[in-house]
Amino acid sequence: MEFYSLLDPQQVIEALARAAAVLRAGGLVAFPTETVYGLGARADDPLAVRRIFAAKGRPATNPVIVHVATMAQAASLAALWPARAEKLAQSFWPGPLTIVVPRAPCVPLEVTAGGPTVGLRIPGHPAALALLNTVGLPIAAPSANRASGISPTTAAHVAAGLADTVDLLLDGGPTPGGIESTVIDLADDCPRLLRPGLITREMLASALGEPVEWSADREESPSAPARAPGQQARHYAPRAPLELADDDGAARVAELAHSGLCVGWLTCGPVGSSHVATLQVELPADPEGYAARLYAALHTLDARNVDRIVVGSVPGGADWLAVRNRLGRAAAPE
Ligand code: TXA
Ligand code: MG
Repeated sequence: MEFYSLLDPQQVIEALARAAAVLRAGGLVAFPTETVYGLGARADDPLAVRRIFAAKGRPATNPVIVHVATMAQAASLAALWPARAEKLAQSFWPGPLTIVVPRAPCVPLEVTAGGPTVGLRIPGHPAALALLNTVGLPIAAPSANRASGISPTTAAHVAAGLADTVDLLLDGGPTPGGIESTVIDLADDCPRLLRPGLITREMLASALGEPVEWSADREESPSAPARAPGQQARHYAPRAPLELADDDGAARVAELAHSGLCVGWLTCGPVGSSHVATLQVELPADPEGYAARLYAALHTLDARNVDRIVVGSVPGGADWLAVRNRLGRAAAPE
């Protein structure tokens, strides 16, 4: 695997040129976005896209997001560019929002998992934008982790999971957002949130001037390509079993630790007194701050080989929906 640091100004031009060359040749490049690291391949090359699925161990039924540099490029990949898509793109791109629209015939079925729609986004990270502008092609990119593992928020996370299969890794430092983009489906009559994220359902509804449906619990038809494979229960999970506490988690941590287990404990903000937690990680008590550090904390606890992870409860408000969604999936049984 080739490695370049974008934090070193002397490497940037060479790194982008080299990464673009690897992508053009059908290779895999891991790169930072404002959400998590992506594992990119040229979206117009079915063989290159298949390499993504092989590297991740990703089921072929799970479509990948296509990243583009411009609105015109996005519209060219859609059979239909609805007025709603234009509104949301104008409001939130570049940024952590994926818009699902009917796919244009030029989009390979490998990208869409055989389905009639394609998910598109212009990422807000300067390195991702620079790469997309340099390569001049739409880039298919899921998160740069093995399927059903935790998304990577640092280059080290990517290397730990995929060093053998990625051709080139661009290190842009920790990703600021920390959780994956919001996904909204605009291919049907009603706008529907498929995956909550830092662009909230309320922000989308306000930009559209109409409600946005959210039906995480709705049963997906198992035969059709899943509209949101991110809705599969266990999708963001650490290696150690993770439980969500109803309170700050202190009592449960003490109980597990007393039974001899090595316990990781994630708390939302400071907790009153010090406890017997083997390894406590205090996350910020605001939803953006918590999201930014959640996956890094889970990666750390996995690396420390804890037996269990206990997560103290987080607030119930709408602005915490994306965090609660990721925690719920991380806690889902295999
Ligand atoms: O923030 C992100 O979205 C990151 C960065 C790299 O851009 N990417 C990411 O990709 O999280 P991935 O593959 O881990 O998650 C993609 C999600 C899937 O869970 C799926 O629900 C949705 O995007 N998706 C992609 N194409 C879709 C489509 N045509 N219809 C419905 N959902 C789609
Ligand atoms: Mg993923």
